[in-house]
Amino acid sequence: MILYFTGTGNTEFIAKEIASRLDDDCLNLLTRIREKDYSAIRSDKPWVICVPVYVCEMPRFFAEFLRNVRLEGSREAYFIFSSGGYSGISGSLAKGIMRRKGITVKGYTDLSLPRNYPVSKLYKLLSDEDARARLAKAYGLLDGIASSIRNGDKLNHRYVFLFEKAITLPFNPVWCRLKFKADDFKVNGNCVGCGLCERVCPLVNITLADKKPVWGNNCTHCMACVSNCPMDAIEYGDVTSQKGKYHIKYHKEYLDGLRKM
Ligand SMILES: Cc1cc2nc3c(=O)[nH]c(=O)nc-3n(C[C@H](O)[C@H](O)[C@H](O)COP(=O)(O)O)c2cc1C
Ligand code: SF4
Ligand code: SF4
Repeated sequence: MILYFTGTGNTEFIAKEIASRLDDDCLNLLTRIREKDYSAIRSDKPWVICVPVYVCEMPRFFAEFLRNVRLEGSREAYFIFSSGGYSGISGSLAKGIMRRKGITVKGYTDLSLPRNYPVSKLYKLLSDEDARARLAKAYGLLDGIASSIRNGDKLNHRYVFLFEKAITLPFNPVWCRLKFKADDFKVNGNCVGCGLCERVCPLVNITLADKKPVWGNNCTHCMACVSNCPMDAIEYGDVTSQKGKYHIKYHKEYLDGLRKM
C-alpha cells in the first residue's frame, strides 16, 4: 500500500507512479489527516510512504498522523521524500516513528522535485525548464526505486549527520511557530466560491463565508489552497504575485510526454 500526502502535486505524482510499478494500492491521506481518522489501514505488502519535506523534516501534522494511525499487516516500510533538494532529518525521524509502531524501515530515499514554496525568502521558484529537468531526473529514478522495493532491498539515501539533528530538532518547531502565519492570504474577485481551497487544507484552516475563503490561525504553509484554486484567486501577500506559484499540473503535458518515451 502506498500512502501519501501532497500539497501541490509532486508527491502524488511519485506515489501514483510507484503504485503502478508495484501494482499496489495508493491512498491519499488528506481526508484521514483532516478528520484525524486514525482507524486501521491494512497492507500485506510493505508500506511505501510518500511525503513532502517541510523545514528539513516530515511535515509536523504528517508525523503526528503516522504516530497515531493503526497500520495492520506488513511490518516493513519504505519512505520516499519529495523535497526541493534537502530532506534534512526526515529519514531518521521516520525510522524512529515506525520503530515505535513495530515497523522496520527497510529504506528511504529523497527525490529532488521542483520547489513549491514561494514564501521562503531563501529560494526563488524554478523556471519551467529547470522544474522539468528535475521532474525528468526524478522520473528516471522511479524504476530503480520500485525494483528495490519489490526485491526487499535498501534504497540509496543521504547520510544524516548528528549535527543536522542537533540543529533541526530545536529549529523546526520555532520556525514553524514564527513563520507559518495565515494572516497574509487574500482572495481576489476571481473567486467563484467553489470551496476547493477549503477541502484541500490538511489542517481544516479554511472556512467559506459568503462563498469566500476565510483563513484561521492553524496553517502549515503547504500551499495547497494557493496552488489548487482553479481560478488562481488566492495570493499570499505580494509574494505570490511577484514570485509566482507552483503546481505540478503546470507540467502535465510534459509528464505525459515523459511517460510515452
Ligand atoms: C512549508 C514548506 C517547507 C519546505 N521546506 C523544504 C525543505 O526544508 N527542504 C526542501 O528541500 N524542500 C522544502 N520544501 C519544498 C517541498 O518539499 C517540495 O517542493 C515538495 O516536492 C512539495 O511536494 P508536494 O507538491 O507534494 O506538496 C518546502 C515546502 C513547503 C511548502
Ligand atoms: S478554490 Fe479558489 S475559486 Fe474556489 S472558493 Fe477557494 S478561492 Fe474561491
Ligand atoms: S491554509 Fe495553510 S495549511 Fe491550509 S491549505 Fe492553505 S497553506 Fe495549506
